[in-house]
Amino acid sequence: MDSQLFRTKDIDELISESEKPERRLQKSLGWISLTALGVGAIIGSGIFILTGTAAAGESVRFPSLLKAPVLDVLLHGARSLGVTGRPGAGPAITVSFFLVAVVCGLAGLCYAELASMIPIAGSAYTYTYATLGELIAWIIGWDLILEYAVSNMAVAVGFSAYTNSLLVSFGLRIPATLSMPAYSAATGWTPHFNIMGFVIVMALTVLLVVGIRESSGANNLMVGIKLLAIVVFCIAASKYIHTANWKPFAPNGFQGVLTGGAIVFFTYIGFDSVSTAAEECRSPERDLPIGILVSLFICAFFYIAVALVLTGIQRWNLLNNAAPVAQALEAIGLNGVNRWVTAGALLGMISSILVFQLGQARVWFAMSRDGLLPATFSHVHPRFRTPDVATWVAGIVVAIPAGIFDIGTLADLSNIGTLFAFILVSLAVPILRRRQPDRRRGFRVPGSPWVPILSVVFCFILMVSLTVENWIRFGVWLVIGLVVYSFYGRRHSGLGSAGLKTAPQGEFR
Ligand code: ALA
Repeated sequence: MDSQLFRTKDIDELISESEKPERRLQKSLGWISLTALGVGAIIGSGIFILTGTAAAGESVRFPSLLKAPVLDVLLHGARSLGVTGRPGAGPAITVSFFLVAVVCGLAGLCYAELASMIPIAGSAYTYTYATLGELIAWIIGWDLILEYAVSNMAVAVGFSAYTNSLLVSFGLRIPATLSMPAYSAATGWTPHFNIMGFVIVMALTVLLVVGIRESSGANNLMVGIKLLAIVVFCIAASKYIHTANWKPFAPNGFQGVLTGGAIVFFTYIGFDSVSTAAEECRSPERDLPIGILVSLFICAFFYIAVALVLTGIQRWNLLNNAAPVAQALEAIGLNGVNRWVTAGALLGMISSILVFQLGQARVWFAMSRDGLLPATFSHVHPRFRTPDVATWVAGIVVAIPAGIFDIGTLADLSNIGTLFAFILVSLAVPILRRRQPDRRRGFRVPGSPWVPILSVVFCFILMVSLTVENWIRFGVWLVIGLVVYSFYGRRHSGLGSAGLKTAPQGEFR
């Protein structure tokens, strides 16, 4: 049974599969397109919302150990029982943005090595299946579902907040029962449903089933619009900065910076998607690490600029609301600018949801093709040639919670899952250097094993900066995953029965 849990896919077989003429993808991407891809995937709604939440901190009505960061509990034990929320980073959220970019850079290098070694369109799921075995691959795949699904729920909630804010600026208001989440950490459960979050995900699901694919041109346009929205915000609002708002710079010291970092980690999620384009790279060994690092650098630059301007135009403790950038612009009287920035941000969020829903359906598809999930998930629509069942399920599974939960709850859950995936990917690098030293690596992480180890340690520090409640939710998710694996995946795995399976019901385009 042990050998079953740790059975791996054969890397050579995977590569030769992908080299078949009918499967071969065009190798046309250089580092500039990769960077555009990365920036497009990274910038979603996080920067427009979580910067406010993380700077201001969050207070809850009743003191509870559940709301305390795990690190706090580890360091202070029972004293954390009196915690009434988490500390805000204040203007020092800028420092959090910088530090998190460094952590993502380290993990990004590890992704780049695996991607250049196994240049197959796919993700951490494929890498681990080929290297660490089926059980870990299952955990990663299950975890990736969490990353993609929950981060998309969060982006949809952000979309809803900014749509509502735009409508209000035109004098239109959706009633609170249909514009607020049913659950938020601060207020608990209330009879609300966030309708716009639900509608946008379902609308995009229909487009994905019919077969819309973001072309590289459309992606570049969206990236340009997102960046323009950020630049317009920074330039227009910078005249209204009061340096007094930056004092004190770090009201809650390093603890605030760390807790803020664990929240804004969300804003960088998506850079790992650059590695999934490995198969389409002209020279992955050079372009992949450049694409990952440059896209992280560009985003870090823009994020730090937004954080500086936002905390400069409004006091940090006033920023915990659904659409902090829009509200701050309104507060300084820039209503016209606000509409343009909001429209740009909304377009950016739409492209982000589209890319992640597409990616998510592919993970479900891949897991089903390998026999780890029921075959229906790898059904291909006869006319549209899209993985329709996986796409519908992904749509419904994301749209409903997007109407129910608040962005903070969702972003935290997505962060913990992604950080865990980063840890496994980073660990895979030194393990594979040992197990398969001779396999060709287009790119090698410099300073291995130290860089991967640092990546593991830093990701873990961010994980323990998240709350106890969040760890419990993540634990429950993993346990459910293991139950599904034991009762379904392990028994139906294609590797277990008939070697490596190919798509049982056809290939989608
Ligand atoms: N990084 C993405 C965002 O900020 C998920 O919305």
